Amino acid sequence: MRRHFEPSGPLRGTLRAPGDKSMSHRAALFGAMSADPVQVTGYLEAADTYATLNAIRGLGALVEEGATPGTLTIRGPGLRAAVEAHIDVGNAGTLMRLAPGWLAGQPGGKWSFDGDESIRRRPVDRVASPLREMGAWIDAHDGRFAPFTVHGMPLRGIEYRLPVASAQVKSCVLMAGLLASGTTTVIEPEPSRDHTERLLARAGCRITRDGDRISLTQHDELELGSIHVPGDPSSAAFHIAAAVLVRGSRIVVSDMSANWTRTGFVRIVERMGGIVLGDLEAPRAGEIVHEEPVCELDVAAGPLVGTVVEPSEVPLAIDELPLVALLGCFAEGETVVTGAAELRVKESDRIATVVDGLRGLGADIEGTEDGFVVRGTGGLRGGTIPAHGDHRLAMLGAVAGLASAEGVTVDGIEAAAVSYPGFEADLASLLRT
Ligand code: S3P
Repeated sequence: MRRHFEPSGPLRGTLRAPGDKSMSHRAALFGAMSADPVQVTGYLEAADTYATLNAIRGLGALVEEGATPGTLTIRGPGLRAAVEAHIDVGNAGTLMRLAPGWLAGQPGGKWSFDGDESIRRRPVDRVASPLREMGAWIDAHDGRFAPFTVHGMPLRGIEYRLPVASAQVKSCVLMAGLLASGTTTVIEPEPSRDHTERLLARAGCRITRDGDRISLTQHDELELGSIHVPGDPSSAAFHIAAAVLVRGSRIVVSDMSANWTRTGFVRIVERMGGIVLGDLEAPRAGEIVHEEPVCELDVAAGPLVGTVVEPSEVPLAIDELPLVALLGCFAEGETVVTGAAELRVKESDRIATVVDGLRGLGADIEGTEDGFVVRGTGGLRGGTIPAHGDHRLAMLGAVAGLASAEGVTVDGIEAAAVSYPGFEADLASLLRT
């Protein structure tokens, strides 16, 4: 489906971004792993996180959806009692990479996984290889792709040094550690989103962090009670970018996650000259806290300058880096991102699709092996951008349109529904006032 986004006047008003996608996947999975019922509020109602609800239903959980959107009660089946199932992950990489961590340590069970065309191109060896080191049995297409099957086996704890900072891989190994003998330790090259650690700590697990080492020991029962999922900074980022780019804009984003491992984009925007005020959590690299802080952000446009995004910042803004490229087009000077080769294995090869897409709109941008270089020209002409089935690219095209000279047609806008079905309506609400 094609949709045209005209150059717009200022954005005004208040918005609650949809529930955080990462936290929603985890709320569903950890809810299903708990013996007692878990109440969830703020759950993201989108294709990706519906896939996770269907998955846990298949695994034996009872999921009751409440009258208020995003409200759920999840009952069981508990840590060691997942029912055998075929899991269709759809487009959800997080579901595909986290669920095997729970299932691999349940001897006797067998679970098959598959997903859409894009998911079949995304590697699972990054989780299969540490799980195999722990004793798991996983058959994957070509050894590393979906479709794949997890056969439950007794697991032993390992010490695993992540080859790249990946919250999905870290989470998978820690989840497997819950059912493994001994201690499981994950060593992170750089901090990445830490929702799994916070939830496990809240659930009563023995999980500790010592510098870059996160360790946990076997556990019998998760005790969570309730989980509130705040607004997703990665979804809010599209409105933040639009408000920073369109002169005269002023918006408020409420109930957004302030978790410091998720707000790298806000820090980059501030450095580039955008005005973003809010009570963000300060970096807490040395400890595991239980809470997921929330904040309200006040955002306004400002003249932008180029910036260099350091590799250590990449995991803290990984899903927002396409928007950094877009802001770079409007900034004075060069914007450089390095150390982001992971972008190549997202829902699309986001270095190739962002570089080609923005170039087609008039940007002066070049891809590198592990990032991109944008030479800001103060604006963007406009044109057509293909979404390549990638939700974040579809929404980036819309924001580019509002700030462009001639407007942008997004080819494949429906992809936005993967993480943000209400995206167009929310954007329109900020343009009405
Ligand atoms: C996610 C982690 C990131 C991110 C993805 C969600 C998560 O992936 O890109 O959208 O929920 O853990 P990696 O862990 O592969 O970097």
